[in-house]
Amino acid sequence: MKHIGKARAYTNIALIKYWGKKDEQLILPMNSSLSLTLDAFYTETEVTFDPALSQDCFYLNDRLQNKEQTKKISKFLTIFRNKYSISHYASVDSRNFVPTAAGLASSASGLAALAGACSAALSLELSPQELSKLARRGSGSACRSIFGGFAEWRKGDSDDTSFAVQVPASSWENELSMLFILVNDTQKDVSSRDGMKRTVDTSIFYQGWLTGAADDLELAKQAIAENNFSALGEVAESNALRMHGTTLGAVPPFTYWSPDSLKAMNLVRSCRMRGIPCYFTMDAGPNVKVLVQKKDQEKLYHFFSEHFNEKQLILANTGPGLEILKPERLMDND
Ligand code: DP6
Repeated sequence: MKHIGKARAYTNIALIKYWGKKDEQLILPMNSSLSLTLDAFYTETEVTFDPALSQDCFYLNDRLQNKEQTKKISKFLTIFRNKYSISHYASVDSRNFVPTAAGLASSASGLAALAGACSAALSLELSPQELSKLARRGSGSACRSIFGGFAEWRKGDSDDTSFAVQVPASSWENELSMLFILVNDTQKDVSSRDGMKRTVDTSIFYQGWLTGAADDLELAKQAIAENNFSALGEVAESNALRMHGTTLGAVPPFTYWSPDSLKAMNLVRSCRMRGIPCYFTMDAGPNVKVLVQKKDQEKLYHFFSEHFNEKQLILANTGPGLEILKPERLMDND
């Protein structure tokens, strides 16, 4: 019998970053992190466990992916199969909803949607906590995309104790927005996985990062509890800068910044001087994301549109958590 499930998950952007693994197999992080889920980018995934298949296959936006591209998905499916005793291979049909083709496809939304679809296929009815643990095994940041709004990934120290939880914000999160600035980049990518490994293994700044991250998390949670936008923005911006600082102390050193990333960061500072409170963050790539209050999002957009073209700017609002969807294929068509 075939087992089919479908789910949608939205991407999240960390305000306090996850940067470094304590256990690479289980994906246990060195530090706890905190993110905001956003509505502009999401992944829908349908998974079919099918006794007729002789290997896993992975379609992304209708294109069959090669062996290398299927590896991460297959590894996740194997973890799932072992944990929930199902022997069939699966066909995974994923669609990334990203406003432009700008390299924003995210492993967070992708792996969270896959975890949700697998659980739905077997009618497991897992709790958000169990889904978060499962998604974490695919990609660390995916464990936070199970939740809408703010999520805290508590690092834990074992497979069972490392998962994300909702951070209550009494709907304040709905007053927040993020402007994505997609900058031009000519550099070769260092994936977040490789980048964080290199900094943990070699960066002389890594210990400093860890000490700071624990304090930053407390400050961020306090800012959320008090609905204090500038306090949250300030700690998010300095946390991102410290994370990026570790890459310069790695061997060999590297950076995710491009000249346009620096231009965008400087413009954020100019915006603040003009009285628009806004703060930047960056992940394992050159794009810059700007946290702003919804009431100021138009002003911020207008300011940036004088420096970047329309295709480079995407506004997002706070997004929801994992959604289980009705599969498109019929359940009884085996
Ligand atoms: C910089 O979750 O992509 O975006 O666990 O190896 O799959 P893996 O890494 P991933 O790393 C995300 C790193 C980051 C910060 C963050 O999202 O917290």
